[in-house]
Amino acid sequence: MTDKRRPIVAGNWKMNTTLRDARELATALREPLAGLDGVDSVLCPPFVYLIAAGEVIEQSNVALGAQNCHVESKGAFTGEVSPAMLVDVGCRYVILGHSERRRLLKEDDALIRRKLESAVAHGLVPIVCTGENLAENEAGRTTEVVGGQLRAALHGLGGLLGDDAGAKLVVAYEPVWAIGTGRPATAQDAGATIGSIRRTLVELLGEAAAAAVRIQYGGSVTPANAAELFAQPEIDGALVGGASLKAPDFFAICRAAAAAGL
Ligand code: PGA
Repeated sequence: MTDKRRPIVAGNWKMNTTLRDARELATALREPLAGLDGVDSVLCPPFVYLIAAGEVIEQSNVALGAQNCHVESKGAFTGEVSPAMLVDVGCRYVILGHSERRRLLKEDDALIRRKLESAVAHGLVPIVCTGENLAENEAGRTTEVVGGQLRAALHGLGGLLGDDAGAKLVVAYEPVWAIGTGRPATAQDAGATIGSIRRTLVELLGEAAAAAVRIQYGGSVTPANAAELFAQPEIDGALVGGASLKAPDFFAICRAAAAAGL
């Protein structure tokens, strides 16, 4: 991690927790994270628990994020949640293009790009996810696949992001085969792919803006492997699934990121 970029660790709770769990998890993290400098931490509960978790972390240094949003601000889109609604309930971040949504809910690059544009226009910071599947990895296509996803997601958005891209955008590299499997990418491979993502960002956004964008690694991050991942100069934090559901584990990962960023 370079000293120019502040590490960011986000907990993607996915479709987990009850209302009570959500409150307890946020409560268990609020105080320990308040004492931790040098890292941005984000909790991303399910939509229905955003308000409850948000109340717990209000006025703290822990930010609230959502796991998805619709393109439009409002209207006849039954079952959807708009970026304006997310801002209204206190969200700063929104995860977009997670591989589970790409794969299971058939979200394509074009839709993710429209969501990203809308999220930024509403003042949310998208955490845009990229990552290759196992077959693509084994075929040596990782850089090509991830670069293609990023180009599609950011197509034509250089103006909207402007010189301030570092404050308006976070990218996550999450190899699909590493998510929820207990088999993370090696720190070296993750660092190399994230380096290639940054080179793509240079093409898309220019040198200065690309240097400021934080790029997370995601996929089976735990307290045991976090420090090694964060020791890679290009890895600026983590998007954490399973381990974010246990307060001590999520805190330990945030602490490792803060330590690496100093
Ligand atoms: P995992 O999930 O940490 O459980 O592998 C990461 C993610 O999907 O964001």
